[in-house]
Amino acid sequence: MSIHFNSEKKVFLLNTPSSSYVIRLFEDKYLLHGGWISRLEDWSGICELPMHDRPFGPVPNDLHGRYSFSLDSQMMEFATTGVGDFRNSSIEVKGKDGSIAFCGKYKGHRIYEGKKNIPELPSTFVNTNSDADSLEIDLLDESSGVLVTLVYTVWNELDAICRHVVVKNTNSEGSVCLQKIMSATLDFMGSRYKMLQLSGAWARERHVVERKLVPGYQGIESRRCASSHQQNPFIALTDYNTTEETGHAFGFNLVYSGSFTAQVEVDQYSFSRVQMGINPFNFEWNLGAGEEFYTPEVVMVYSDQGLGHMSRTYHDLYRNNLCRGKWSKMERPIVINNWEATYFDFNEEKLFALADTAKKQGIELFVLDDGWFGKRNDDRSSLGDWVENRDKIKGGLKAIADGMHARGLKFGVWFEPEMVSPDSNLYRAHPDWALHIDGRPQTLGRNQLVLDYSRKDVTDYIIESLSTIFSTVDIDYVKWDFNRSPTEIGSSLVSSDSQMTVGHKFYLGLYRVMEALITKFPNILFESCSGGGGRYDPGMFHYMSQAWTSDDTDAVARVAIQMGSSLVYPASGMSCHVSAVPNHQNGRVTSLKQRGECAMAGTFGYELDLNKFSQSELDQIKAQCELYKKIRKTVQYGDLYRINDIWEEMSPADVCKLGAWVIVSKDKKQAVLSAVWTTPEANSEFNLFKWKGLDENAKYVLHINGENLFGWEGKIATGKELMNAGIFASCHPHLLGSLLVVADKI
Ligand code: DGJ
Repeated sequence: MSIHFNSEKKVFLLNTPSSSYVIRLFEDKYLLHGGWISRLEDWSGICELPMHDRPFGPVPNDLHGRYSFSLDSQMMEFATTGVGDFRNSSIEVKGKDGSIAFCGKYKGHRIYEGKKNIPELPSTFVNTNSDADSLEIDLLDESSGVLVTLVYTVWNELDAICRHVVVKNTNSEGSVCLQKIMSATLDFMGSRYKMLQLSGAWARERHVVERKLVPGYQGIESRRCASSHQQNPFIALTDYNTTEETGHAFGFNLVYSGSFTAQVEVDQYSFSRVQMGINPFNFEWNLGAGEEFYTPEVVMVYSDQGLGHMSRTYHDLYRNNLCRGKWSKMERPIVINNWEATYFDFNEEKLFALADTAKKQGIELFVLDDGWFGKRNDDRSSLGDWVENRDKIKGGLKAIADGMHARGLKFGVWFEPEMVSPDSNLYRAHPDWALHIDGRPQTLGRNQLVLDYSRKDVTDYIIESLSTIFSTVDIDYVKWDFNRSPTEIGSSLVSSDSQMTVGHKFYLGLYRVMEALITKFPNILFESCSGGGGRYDPGMFHYMSQAWTSDDTDAVARVAIQMGSSLVYPASGMSCHVSAVPNHQNGRVTSLKQRGECAMAGTFGYELDLNKFSQSELDQIKAQCELYKKIRKTVQYGDLYRINDIWEEMSPADVCKLGAWVIVSKDKKQAVLSAVWTTPEANSEFNLFKWKGLDENAKYVLHINGENLFGWEGKIATGKELMNAGIFASCHPHLLGSLLVVADKI
């Protein structure tokens, strides 16, 4: 068991392989946090936080006369509201008396093997009960009758703890109104930490940004009813000097796709309170007698071996215990997507001509992107009308699918199922099916409105209409897009006093739709997308095991985006394509070699008109596909090591000079070293690349992609030598901006 309760000392120890998360039960009432520290087998109490008098620190009334400690000067496991802890609270629930005061006191706990699913929400899961143990602790606020259950799952072989909260109105009559509920609150002792976040914008997602904590609030949030391009639902606290391989990193990632908040509050005594959960902005939830509310889950990862160990822990957990379906364990096919090749301007002939050339190069899956339905020739119409545009594809979707299969290609299709165009049959028939606030005009984004997924009739309709297509056309892959941030988040079917539930209900509806479709169609590989990486979150990964990383496919800009993404999310889910030059987003020209080698860091594909290429370029593409097939299992399912000090070189919104990484297969039989120079210099310095994660006693033979510039091809060295001595390269012009070397064990 990884969870122990010492009934004498009243301490819970939650032990991961290298950490202990400590919860103290004080006076059988107050739940205090004891620290998240290197693993301990026992807790003597010597390191408990002193409890002494603090000016302006109110003493809880039931301790008065015996103690002089205040909740305001303790590390709390779940922060009270309005009763003496003046920092950010964990809950705001308006009771029958109209107040939001809350003081949860211990009522009992349960420890069990395994993990329960969270109703209606995505969450991590165990494959067998021996994967993890769980703990539930009940805290009751007697005055309001609100019961909070803190749920923890501790993973036996990973330094990860998952948390969520259940709130129950235990009153026999009358409702309470939940206005804020954090999924996790964690008080750190001290404030000498950096806070690291993944920030950006459309086409500039997940750049690593870090700052030293300062007194007061700092944090990130999304109010966009989507996890967002701007802020990923992830933060980490690190030591000041944490590197890729050394120092502490504490990661927090919310398994949720809607508006969120992640805050750190440094208080007067230099405690740092981390909180993460649904954004209280535009959120409210009435709980009738006996009703419960489940928060999304926070995945917390501990590392005392730098950011690298934190990332690998997230990758392993997400690949094995978050992503589902047969594709989550399978090698992902190489894609050709027609979007940047044709945009809306295509017909059957063009598609098949692209497919024929793709097939000859070894590409495996053809994806028909936006524009195949309704009368959609630009982005002004037809979302919601999922019926083929017979002017463009005369034989219909089925003929395209059959044609692709006859060519030996898999076939995929683009949908944007949460949206509706005002110019669509669906909207004309059901104008109230779009999110709206009575009496206010609806704001358009990319000329479209958002369907009201809080309504069961709407989500039933979507399940049915997509199921009809998936059952009649042989579809192997679906790209599920989401191209605007919702506004006027209101619903016709919700009463005026519950309109602030609609944002969260939208996601419960979306999760229900996705659950139904992946269950009914288990063979389809689903890829989520939101104008690139606008919903690149673990909630979406629970249903769709890969995601379109960014609409920016420029090999240079991609280094920061892909490295930032790799901080939390595995390469098996990171969809990367080679696109045309000049790049359609930033106009940069890069070599085909660099674009290929950069995109080979994730699930690989192309998004350009192959028929515009010369034979020698096509030969290169063929060689890239052959190479990727040899390394893709390692890339998608291996252990990732970022090998240069990427974070030090990278300023916010900027890219580093060099991105370099090694991915090692789990059996250590193969490793791939990649480097991309983002600002190549003439007569450049030598870069030393030290391999990581190899079997030090084994011998490896090296193969370089492209010209054997440094004489490495066929050379043999031990893992020890490759890791300790490394290999030198400079940014020679013949490298064309990047390097990819494979080490195969012999
Ligand atoms: C946004 C996506 O990110 C693109 O790849 C493409 O699918 C377009 N939408 C189509 O509208």
